[in-house]
Amino acid sequence: MFCYKSVTIYGSKLNQIDTIKQYVVANMQSADQLLQVEAQTSEYISSWMRLSCIKCAIELGIPDILHKHANPFMTLSDLIAALPNLNPSKAPFIPILMRLLVHSGLFNYHQQGDGYSLTSDGRLLVENDPFSRRSHLLFTQHPVMLNTFASISDWLCNDLPTAFDTAHGKSLWDYCAGEPEFGNIFNDLMASDSRLLVSNLLISDCCKRVFEDLTSLVDVGGGTGTLAMSIANAFPSLKCIVFDIPHVIGDRKGTGNMEFVAGNMFDKIPHANAILLKWILHNWSDQDCVNLLKKCKESIPSKEKGGKVIIIDIVMNDNSSNEQLVQAQHLMDFMMRIIHASKERTKKEWEKLFLDAGFSAYKIITSLGLRSLIEIYP
Ligand SMILES: C[S@@+](CC[C@H](N)C(=O)[O-])C[C@H]1O[C@@H](n2cnc3c(N)ncnc32)[C@H](O)[C@@H]1O
Repeated sequence: MFCYKSVTIYGSKLNQIDTIKQYVVANMQSADQLLQVEAQTSEYISSWMRLSCIKCAIELGIPDILHKHANPFMTLSDLIAALPNLNPSKAPFIPILMRLLVHSGLFNYHQQGDGYSLTSDGRLLVENDPFSRRSHLLFTQHPVMLNTFASISDWLCNDLPTAFDTAHGKSLWDYCAGEPEFGNIFNDLMASDSRLLVSNLLISDCCKRVFEDLTSLVDVGGGTGTLAMSIANAFPSLKCIVFDIPHVIGDRKGTGNMEFVAGNMFDKIPHANAILLKWILHNWSDQDCVNLLKKCKESIPSKEKGGKVIIIDIVMNDNSSNEQLVQAQHLMDFMMRIIHASKERTKKEWEKLFLDAGFSAYKIITSLGLRSLIEIYP
C-alpha cells in the first residue's frame, strides 16, 4: 500500500510516503483501518458484477437444472455436463462462477461430493416459481436498462425528457412496441409482480372485500392479464376486462368471465363498476394522471351506485422504520424519474391528484409490501 510513489486519495495527490502516513494519521485511526475501508469499498464498488453473474447463471439455466435434479445435490461434473451450450474449454470457469454465487447465498456447496444445490433465495431464480424474482433481475440487467442507467448524467445535461429517451431515442412504451424480445421481458416482469401480489390480494379479507360486490372490472394497463385472470378465477360472477395497448393485447382471447380489449386509456376506457390501475399512475406526470383519472371517472357509475377506482401503487413513507422498504421505494422513485419523467407519490400528493380529477373521497385500504391498495370514489 505504501510503496506507491504517487497516490491519489480523495482527489489530493500525495507524493511522499510521509505524506501518506500523515494522511492516514489525520483521517483514520490506523493503516489497518484504511485497508479495511479499501476492502469494504472494493466489495461495494464491484458488487454490480454479482448481478451480472446471477444473470449469467440464469441464462446458462443453472437454477432450473439444479431445481429439476432429483438428488439432494448435483455434482460439479454432472452440472457441467447438463449445460447444453457451454463451450468445453470454458468448463473450468463454472466452479469459479458457482463459488461467487455460493458466497452470495444462492447455492449451497456440498464439499463431500463436490456438488451444489439451490438455497431458498436461489429458488427465486427458477423459471415458473410463483415467487420468482428472475424477470426483475433480467429486466434491470438487460443492456437496454444498463444503457439507460449509463445515460443519467448525459440526460441531466441535455433537454430530453428522460434518461431512457437519451439512451434509446424513444419512450419505454414505444421501445417495447418495436422490440418484442425486450417487450416480453417487461411483460414477464409485470406478470411475476402480479403473481407475487395475488397471494396477498386474494387471501387477506380486507383486500378480498375490495372486489366482493363488483359485477364488472376493467384492469386498465393490465398487461398480459395475470392479475385479472386470478381475480376472474376467484370471483366467477365478476366480468373482468384486461385493457392495454394493441401490441400488448396482440391476439389474446379471453375465456369465461375474462376478456381482452385493446385501446388507448387516454382516449376511452370500457365501462364497468370499477377500474383497477396497478402500477399505472406512477408511470405518468401529474397532469397525465389527472387526465387519466377523469377518463376513469367517465367510465364508472356514481359512488352511490358502487363506482370506484382501485389503485395499487406506492405511497411514499420516509418515516417507516423498515429501512429496506424505504430504500426500495426511493429506488423505484428514481427509476420512474429516469424512465418516464414521473415519480412515486406521498399521501398528500395522491390526495391532490384525486381532488384535481374530481373524485370526492379516497381510502388507503392497506399496504402490500412496497405498494398500497387505495380506493377512490367519484
Ligand atoms: C407498469 S405496466 C403495469 C402492468 C400491470 N398493470 C401490472 O401491474 O402488472 C404499465 C402498463 O400500461 C400499459 N400502457 C401504457 N400506455 C398505455 C395506454 N396509453 N393505454 C393503455 N395501456 C397502456 C403498458 O403496456 C403496460 O402494460
